[in-house]
Amino acid sequence: MGVIDFYGSSFCLIKSNTNLQQVGLSPRPSCSFGRNQKKLVAMASTIPVEQVNKFPQQLTGDSFIREHLRKLSPYQPILPFEVLSSRLGRKPEDIVKLDANENPYGPPPEVLEALGSITFPYVYPDPESRRLRAALAEDSGLESKYILAGCGADELIDLIMRCVLDPGDKIVDCPPTFTMYEFDAAVNGALVIKVPRREDFSLNVEHITEVVKQEKPKCIFLTSPNNPDGSIIDDKVLLKILELPILVVLDEAYIEFSGIESKMSWVKKYENLIVLRTFSKRAGLAGLRVGYGAFPLSIIEYLWRAKQPYNVSVAAEVSACAALQNPTYLEDVKNALVKERGRLFELLKGFSFLRPFPSHSNFILCEVTSGKDAKKLKEDLAQMGVMIRHYDKKELNGYVRVSVGKPEQTDILIKCLQKLS
Ligand SMILES: Cc1ncc(COP(=O)(O)O)c(C=O)c1O
Repeated sequence: MGVIDFYGSSFCLIKSNTNLQQVGLSPRPSCSFGRNQKKLVAMASTIPVEQVNKFPQQLTGDSFIREHLRKLSPYQPILPFEVLSSRLGRKPEDIVKLDANENPYGPPPEVLEALGSITFPYVYPDPESRRLRAALAEDSGLESKYILAGCGADELIDLIMRCVLDPGDKIVDCPPTFTMYEFDAAVNGALVIKVPRREDFSLNVEHITEVVKQEKPKCIFLTSPNNPDGSIIDDKVLLKILELPILVVLDEAYIEFSGIESKMSWVKKYENLIVLRTFSKRAGLAGLRVGYGAFPLSIIEYLWRAKQPYNVSVAAEVSACAALQNPTYLEDVKNALVKERGRLFELLKGFSFLRPFPSHSNFILCEVTSGKDAKKLKEDLAQMGVMIRHYDKKELNGYVRVSVGKPEQTDILIKCLQKLS
């Protein structure tokens, strides 16, 4: 890898980390920089557009796209609220949105106040998110030098892969789980080795160990609580996996709802552990995109080098800091959701065609049984203005996932399910 400096001569300087080479090339105006620039601008302005556009007929734009990306299936995100609202013919406030594990209580009031008083929106944000990382250090008890913030945990998943994986490297994924790991691996040209979870959604450690030995994957993505079933990873299991020669990325996006302590501080002890967290769920900031991760010092250095400099916007940083200023609100909202999770679970159990799974998170996975079609159930509920998530993947065919909402949202969902019984 290197840089090609082309100064308009018939030679090209290729800089790499180790040497400087001269390569004979005939100058092409379209790739010239530096001293030739003035001349080229003048040239470009005199060429008629039709001539410039003499693009070889047999070439189409997608021929420039990297081979592995041409085969990529697009990630299927949820519909934006406004689009959903016009499709369903309902006002956004009349939609019961239980399909994306968002926090229906939203952020503490301090967040909107802070957003309204941003003084320098025209200045780029702090590339090191210093204020936020200091606040996170206080919140987590882990020094800020171990913490890096991102545009959602999603950005950090991609950033880790960009830093760790060469094309053709392998990752271990344990489905059913968050599909972003598989998607980002594909974007980064990596191969995914799937080690499915057991029927009770626990990890198959023996199989993981075998795969690590045989296939030598670079990293494994683990989620605790796991999305979509809400199960947690036992410490003993995690310790066993940490003994393997593999980078373990532990995604704790929903940890606050589990009553279990985050493993962020473990990164001081385990050189092969990264822990990811987010403000999307705990602080109701999914729309503002703030995530963070705890990294061993030997790893974080490279993420700093490779990340986009302004990955956390002023609005995102201000919001996250303001949210952390009101821990009582965050705690109250979490308690309300955990309480509602218990009530929702009991109510769902009352339907003969649903088998809900106990969850440590802010959602409940249900198997749709008794001959009822899971996809139709999702569609019928959507017609009534209630959005839930439906799965048709191999590991979860015939399942739906319901996010925990406010009590009044649960009540509407239950009434609709009764109508469909
Ligand atoms: C397990 C898991 N990790 C990460 C994320 C993404 O978090 P963020 O909104 O911070 O990008 C999600 C979002 O649903 C998730 O389910």
